[in-house]
Amino acid sequence: MSLNADVIRKDFPIFETLAHGKRLVYLDSASTSQKPQQVINRMVRFYETENANVHRSLYELAEKAEAAYEGARSACAGFIRARSDRSIVFTRGTTESVNLVRFSWGRSHVNAGDEILITEMEHHSNLVPWQLLAQETGATLRYLPITDDGELRMDLLGDYVTDKTKIVAVTLMSNVLGTINPVRDLADAVHAVGGRIVVDAAQAAPHMPVDVGELDTDFLAFSSHKMCGPTGAGVLYGREDLLEEMPPFHGGGEMIREVYDDYSTWNEIPHKFEAGTPNIAQAVGMGAAVEYLTDLTMEAVREHEKDIAAYAIDRLQAAGATVYGPADIQGRGAAVSFNLGAVHPHDMATIIDQEGVCIRAGHHCAQPLMRRLGVPATARASFYLYNTPEDVDALIDSLEVAKGWFA
Ligand SMILES: Cc1ncc(COP(=O)(O)O)c(C=O)c1O
Repeated sequence: MSLNADVIRKDFPIFETLAHGKRLVYLDSASTSQKPQQVINRMVRFYETENANVHRSLYELAEKAEAAYEGARSACAGFIRARSDRSIVFTRGTTESVNLVRFSWGRSHVNAGDEILITEMEHHSNLVPWQLLAQETGATLRYLPITDDGELRMDLLGDYVTDKTKIVAVTLMSNVLGTINPVRDLADAVHAVGGRIVVDAAQAAPHMPVDVGELDTDFLAFSSHKMCGPTGAGVLYGREDLLEEMPPFHGGGEMIREVYDDYSTWNEIPHKFEAGTPNIAQAVGMGAAVEYLTDLTMEAVREHEKDIAAYAIDRLQAAGATVYGPADIQGRGAAVSFNLGAVHPHDMATIIDQEGVCIRAGHHCAQPLMRRLGVPATARASFYLYNTPEDVDALIDSLEVAKGWFA
């Protein structure tokens, strides 16, 4: 069940291009992944032979478009082992999915005096919406602390999940530290006090098997563009009974059943949450990305990334870098944040770009986490199914060039 990254690379046309005349070493997949030819072809085929609006027309072409769109929904449901397609709401991505929960579930269930629990390692997309909900409702936003190794302080859970806790919102895999969090334990804790859990799977869904039943999550969000699919598509998984009782998010076409002058009734789920013409081709492309990953198996993707991340961490440490996040590869993914002595991450990223190496430098949309780590920024190399040990070697060589500038 191992994965051959050299063969996989051939599926991705971007790797035929050069960066500054050199081999493209793309180490920024946590930000957005590259796209295989299969996904690109699927979207072209949709526009060339199936394009029409969905859920409103009675001709054959529209039926083809709808079959493609709803087929993508089924693929996404299978990908996260959801029991029903009705649990899969198409959104523009993780950020919109989290905001949907904030506006719809949050505004109707969270009141002054309640508590919303997030963690010190959240991406702004799973932090700012809760900050806003707390401000709107008078609820208190609390942060579950992390250890110096970048793991959640689960020993403090009893102090942080209280009978006031209405929502726990947590990332399954950190985009900075790579940490894979014990989400099931958090779900059990918040369910025991009658609250709900929202899981940010933006980094987990592309890189490891995800099973919403095993996690016992109420909501789970992920983005197509980080998992070989196009931008503009994503999923909010919601438990059917919760989606049923939630008020709509956006109002407009398709989310209604009947509209009168002074009130309307709502379409069934998930359509109640998909107002207006959706991003049809993008959803179809996301379905193709799910099929691409499913063919390879997520177990194989995860195994490959463990190998490549372990090799990268070893080589970075040997080169004198400080690497953040858990030391044990079993507990982390392949987003590897680091700092290298006095070289500022922004300077580093700019210098190594000249060597064809693309990494991210900055706060990674996690400013509270940067404060917790006591650094203004980090560099981050994030690996995916198409990265090889050769890419790691190129990163290390390019860092030597960067060090030379500051020697
Ligand atoms: C952990 C995490 N959550 C949420 C997001 C936001 O995803 P999107 O920009 O696709 O909405 C990201 C993107 O980097 C992320 O890494």
